[in-house]
Amino acid sequence: MTSPALLVAAVLLLALLLSGCDVAPPQSWWGWNEAKSDFARSLWGLMDTILIAAAVVFVVVEAVLFLAIFRFRARRTGALPRQTHGNTPVEVVWTIMPAVVLAFVAIPTVRTIFESYHPDRTGAVQVRVLGHQWWWEFQYPELGITTANELHFPAGQKVVVAIESADVIHAFWFPGLGGKRDAIPKHVNEVYWTADQPGIYYGQCTQLCGTSHANMRMRAVAHDQAGWQLWVQAMQAANGTPAEGTAGEIARGHQLVTTGACAGCHSIKGTPMQGRVGPDLTRFGDRTTFGAGLYPSTQENLIRWLKNPQEAKPGNKMPNLGLSDEDAAAIAAYLRSLR
Ligand code: CUA
Repeated sequence: MTSPALLVAAVLLLALLLSGCDVAPPQSWWGWNEAKSDFARSLWGLMDTILIAAAVVFVVVEAVLFLAIFRFRARRTGALPRQTHGNTPVEVVWTIMPAVVLAFVAIPTVRTIFESYHPDRTGAVQVRVLGHQWWWEFQYPELGITTANELHFPAGQKVVVAIESADVIHAFWFPGLGGKRDAIPKHVNEVYWTADQPGIYYGQCTQLCGTSHANMRMRAVAHDQAGWQLWVQAMQAANGTPAEGTAGEIARGHQLVTTGACAGCHSIKGTPMQGRVGPDLTRFGDRTTFGAGLYPSTQENLIRWLKNPQEAKPGNKMPNLGLSDEDAAAIAAYLRSLR
C-alpha cells in the first residue's frame, strides 16, 4: 500500500474505534471525576500513582533505547565496536532500579488493599449482599429489610457491604463507588464506602456466572438522610395489601399473587408469602426496573415477563405459568401498586 492509502486506512480505523466511545458512560471508573466515594478515590489515587511510575519508567527506558540505537548504530567503516564483558556498576544499577520501582508500586497497593478489607463499623449501615443466578438480594439485618436489585443507602454515611453468593461465584461491582469483590458461596467478602452525593449508581455482576450473566445488573440509590429514613420506614411498614376498597385488576392481582404459584418462590412483606427462591417483591412498585435491572418497570414489560419469563431473561428460574392475558395484567397491576 502507498503511504497516503495507509494513512486513510489508519484514520478510518481510528474513527471506527472512537465511535465505540460514549461521552458519559454510566459505568466508567476512569478519572477523578468518576470516583463518587472515598473508596473509589483511594483506588483511583492508586491508579494515578502507578500510572505516573509507569510513565517515568517508559520515558527512561525509551530514552536509553534510542540513545543506544543512535550511538551504537552500524558505521560505514564496518569495524566491530569495542567488545566488553561484564560491568559491575551497571549490573548493580539494573538490579536495584526495578526493585525500587516494584516497591514504589507495591507499598501503596498492599496498603490500599488491606485498608479496603477492614471497615470500622461505627455508625455504618450494614448490608448483606447475596448473588443469585441472575439477580441480587440485599438484606439489612439490623433494619429487618430485604429487597432485590436496587440497593438503597444514605449518601455521606458509611455503608459496609458483606458479600456472599447463594449458588455460583458472582462479582459485585459499582464502578462509581469503588472496586469489585467476588461473591462466593459460604464465604463473606466485605467492602465499604461513603458516597459523596445522593444519586443513582449503576453496577453489574463481573464474574461469568452462566446464561444470563450479562443480564445480572443492579442499581444503587444513594439517598439524602431524610430520603433514607423515609425509605426505611416505608419498607418496614409495607404490608402488601391494596388499600381498603380497591377493586378491579389490582384486587384480583393481589389474590392471584398471594394465593397462587408466586408464593412458592417470592416473598412480600405483610402477606403469607415466604418464598426464598426468587427476588423479594416487597414494595416492588417503587423499583424503576425489574429482572435485575434489565427492564423498566412498565405494565407492558411486566406482562411480557409474566407471560414468558424465559424469553425475557434466558435461563432464569421462573417457570412459564401459562397465565392468561387478563391474569398477567392483573398481577402486573398489583405488583406495580406495591409502593
Ligand atoms: Cu453473576 Cu455474572
